[in-house]
Amino acid sequence: MATLATAATLLTVLSTLLLLLRAGTCAADDYSAFVYAGCSQGHYDASSPYASAVDSVLTSVANSAPYAPYANFTAPSDASMVGLYQCRSDLPSSICSGCVRSAISRLSTLCAWSAGGGVQLRACFVRYGNDSFLGKQDTAVLFKKCGGTPGDAGGVAMRDSALGALVAAAAPEGGGYRAGGSGGVQAMSQCVGDLGAKACSDCVSAAAAQLKAGCGYATAGEVYLGKCYARFWANGGGGFSSSSAGRHGFGLVHHAFATGFLASLAYVVSLAV
Ligand SMILES: *[C@@H]1O[C@H](CO)[C@@H](O)[C@H](O)[C@H]1NC(C)=O
Ligand SMILES: *[C@@H]1O[C@H](CO)[C@@H](O)[C@H](O)[C@H]1NC(C)=O
Repeated sequence: MATLATAATLLTVLSTLLLLLRAGTCAADDYSAFVYAGCSQGHYDASSPYASAVDSVLTSVANSAPYAPYANFTAPSDASMVGLYQCRSDLPSSICSGCVRSAISRLSTLCAWSAGGGVQLRACFVRYGNDSFLGKQDTAVLFKKCGGTPGDAGGVAMRDSALGALVAAAAPEGGGYRAGGSGGVQAMSQCVGDLGAKACSDCVSAAAAQLKAGCGYATAGEVYLGKCYARFWANGGGGFSSSSAGRHGFGLVHHAFATGFLASLAYVVSLAV
């Protein structure tokens, strides 16, 4: 039984890894490029009421994406089933809806029949589940990477200042997107819309601390926490390519996840190093 479960996990991991590797070759401005996904360990039956509850919230998510960068939905038949999406709120709604459609399609492949699941693409995040995640802070590190050509102490000071500007910035009304810059370094962050302004600042602050502590002299970095993410990059280059990922600093995350949501993610990410 344990062996079967391990084999099944491994298969999921391998197919996810293939997707991840393919996604790694996409251009940086490919808004639907894959970042990470995670699925909870519990599964449901295809013809169960739970299956219709999942369908219901994901359908609402897809239908809402052209109209707002964030929304949450509860299944009418099951108050514990919640689905939400968050697009990068500085992008046009057409990009948001395309990204969310693509995220839902990836979820149905990567997290087929999983009680809960989440996927982050470049421009959007979609999550569903019955594990009461709505409105809760979550600063667990899910994915991080540093890259670019190695910089110097001056670059590090600009990075720290650009990240500091994100933490200090007031998020635009209902947006959750923040941008900051210092000298030649730009930074951005995005919170999931179920966090209030204070919780969003706390999350961005935790993300900035991860980047400062882990990216050394790298001239680009990004970290995805449970409810927000932050990135920085040097102007005029210093972005990621799949070959530069992980060359500097901490590379991809080796985070021991607890159980439940995103349990399979840890394997996907560590295999990809
Ligand atoms: C969520 O749903 C799954 C699948 O039906 C079930 O096994 C699990 O106990 C539920 N979790 C909660 C917190 O209700
Ligand atoms: C969830 O959605 C409802 C209905 O749009 C909204 O009133 C509520 O504020 C949202 N809750 C959170 C935590 O985002």
